[in-house]
Amino acid sequence: MSQLFQPLAIGPLRLANRIVIAPMCQYSASDGTPGDWHLIHLGQLALSGAGLLVLEATAVEAEGRISAGDLGLYSDANEAGLARVLAALRAHSPIPVAIQLGHAGRKASSRAPWDGGTQVRSTEPGGWRGVSASALPHAPGEEAPHALDAAGLRRVREAFAQAARRAARLGLDGIEIHAAHGYLLHQFLSPLSNQRTDGHGGSLDNRMRFVLEVYDAVREAFTPGKPVWVRASATDWVPGGWDVDSTVALAQALKARGCAAIHVSSGGVSPQQAIALGPLYQVPFAERIKAEVGLPTIAVGLITEPAQAEAIVAEGRADAVALARAMLYDPHWPWHAAAQLGAQVVAPRQYWRSQPRAFKDLFAGAAFGAR
Ligand SMILES: Cc1cc2nc3c(=O)[nH]c(=O)nc-3n(C[C@H](O)[C@H](O)[C@H](O)COP(=O)(O)O)c2cc1C
Repeated sequence: MSQLFQPLAIGPLRLANRIVIAPMCQYSASDGTPGDWHLIHLGQLALSGAGLLVLEATAVEAEGRISAGDLGLYSDANEAGLARVLAALRAHSPIPVAIQLGHAGRKASSRAPWDGGTQVRSTEPGGWRGVSASALPHAPGEEAPHALDAAGLRRVREAFAQAARRAARLGLDGIEIHAAHGYLLHQFLSPLSNQRTDGHGGSLDNRMRFVLEVYDAVREAFTPGKPVWVRASATDWVPGGWDVDSTVALAQALKARGCAAIHVSSGGVSPQQAIALGPLYQVPFAERIKAEVGLPTIAVGLITEPAQAEAIVAEGRADAVALARAMLYDPHWPWHAAAQLGAQVVAPRQYWRSQPRAFKDLFAGAAFGAR
């Protein structure tokens, strides 16, 4: 029996299987508000049969957007736009939908990847100055961010809480706090980007403080009984940077606060990173954190084959696997995985006639239940 297709509890949220659609920025929002692209894109992903859909990095304030096209949840218009998308998803799919809340910090004000992804300086049209733990640019030659002072920290924390209240009103099923990939919260964690001398810098405890404060604020603001978890980079891939030992400590501190899961990625804080890229390259980090901390753990990164995903879960290396690029390439990846592994997926009844004869029990009987 496939272990990948066993249900999983993330806190009180029940996933039908252990396939998570990783958050993926679309650079296609307008002042943070999703439009028809999101309906089409998320609509197709919602029909994938995965266990959970995590919406792309969503900025908690306008300045926290990576690019001007990022999704946001900082205005009534953002909230109304997302409500429209969610209503469509819910009408046609049972998939639980979580949102990744984030702040780009010093990596804000960038071009979309297809326009090169480089920084738009605050002196250029449409650009703005980023904020960070310290006034250190991400890459040499980039404009330095402002270091957040005590009032700035309060403002950003409150922006996270306010976005979490909007997420609660929208009926989202969970919140993933983005503390990975070199964005603001990671900038506080890593000694490479955090050189503060106050209570938010220096020791590991001090560097973890802001992330934990944001976690607490989001937890308090979001619907009781619905899960909040964190995506972290397990290592900076730079000597002297944030590392796996530190991530274990962070996961332990989060667990003590009731965090529902940890999503284990890596890198992003320094252009000096030397990443040992290859299939499943981040799984050993997830495996160690799961073994030492015991939080439900999501592994991600170049997991592309159903047999790999099945082995990760069956061998207890992680509780769930997240896929990003493989889901864009093949939005029915979970159907094909279920066919290979002798399992079932929920598919829309409009598509039932596509079931190959060889896999006559591929599609679960009910279209989907009431939410
Ligand atoms: C188009 C695209 C957009 C992404 N946007 C985000 C994002 O919004 N938040 C995030 O944490 N990671 C983001 N990522 C990283 C993915 O979530 C994932 O961690 C990474 O692509 C590795 O998984 P994969 O090998 O299955 O693609 C993005 C990746 C892609 C390809």
